[in-house]
Amino acid sequence: MTIAGFTSTGSKHPDLLFGTGDDRVPQRMVRARGCIVHATDGRDYLDFVMALGAVALGYGHPEVDRAVIEAVERGTIGPLSPEDELLLASELAAVMPWLEKVRFFKTGAEAVAAAVRIARVATGRDRVLGCGYHGWLDWCSDANGVPIATRALYGALPFNDAGRAVDAIRNAGDRLACVVVEPVVDEAPSADWLAALRTETARTGAVLIFDEIKTAFRVALGGATEKWGVQPDLTVLGKALANGYPLAAVGGGGALMDRVDQTWISSTMATEFVSLAAARATVAAMRTHDVPRHLHDIGSYLLAGLQRIATRYPASGVRAMGIPEMCYLRYANEAMSERVAAACAAQGLLFKRTAYNFVSLAHDVAAVDRALATLDQVLATC
Ligand SMILES: Cc1ncc(COP(=O)(O)O)c(C=O)c1O
Repeated sequence: MTIAGFTSTGSKHPDLLFGTGDDRVPQRMVRARGCIVHATDGRDYLDFVMALGAVALGYGHPEVDRAVIEAVERGTIGPLSPEDELLLASELAAVMPWLEKVRFFKTGAEAVAAAVRIARVATGRDRVLGCGYHGWLDWCSDANGVPIATRALYGALPFNDAGRAVDAIRNAGDRLACVVVEPVVDEAPSADWLAALRTETARTGAVLIFDEIKTAFRVALGGATEKWGVQPDLTVLGKALANGYPLAAVGGGGALMDRVDQTWISSTMATEFVSLAAARATVAAMRTHDVPRHLHDIGSYLLAGLQRIATRYPASGVRAMGIPEMCYLRYANEAMSERVAAACAAQGLLFKRTAYNFVSLAHDVAAVDRALATLDQVLATC
């Protein structure tokens, strides 16, 4: 027996991380702590993948681990809804006051799908415009196996182009249930794009959903909404919310969230309380250690270094992309990105060749200096 497709998280397939050309790259891991990963090849790696952004405090953060052990000792799950659910909801509302009511889920894809369902119920409409990645489920996917009729309900909304975004929203007309966007796609959102989304969705009566699965707790505790000051109707959280424990959430105004009573959204494991306890400890640690400030400072140092490296190798066409909290190098072609990622791994550095790498509370100047020196040295030979 083995794993179909090598791994259950597609983006951790070695071909995606490093390309197909080099079989010396690490395949599977044993443990991780801080920003160091120990792989089955017996080596330690300095990591900037950070579980695809699921970890912002560093792997195995002691304050989260303590809360998790205590939740395990309390029994993990039971027949009744745990008080942890309610406590976490009010702690989230303290950092994101626009979340009057929330629902919890195990995966980001599930949470965004729930937000879209709530929007469809509230509006009685079926069309969706999306921007960015929102998970693998049918409503937003054009992968093999998705029915054509389902695909027809979803369209792409251009990022950071206010004029074309307005056109797309107007063209969808009164069948548009919602616009769901990642607030950051390779760069920060422009004020006029965010304002256009807010104004146009309100004008047509569609729900505006911010998929803050990568941006919440990173660009600010309150994510893009806090940082750029435009408030959506629904917010989706995931990844860093529980520092790697499986938890996601949808939240928004009370009346809109109460639409859950007019449909069926439920999952048995949504109320196991290990992840809820992990999230409570994570949110507390985020506040105590001012994690977004650290991510911005250390991320700015990393991004500036990537920009310096990019200018040193103009012939290679390499460019620094992203924002301090989530960035990467874009290469002239796929083959080059694979050579660089594999050569970095050979030198003990896990640095994603596509969007995004993430800094964490565990990354310091020495870690970033080491990554930049490795990238510089590798690019000189690739
Ligand atoms: C913005 C965004 N939305 C949704 C998802 C899907 O989350 P999950 O993989 O937890 O289902 C991801 C995952 O990368 C994401 O980055």
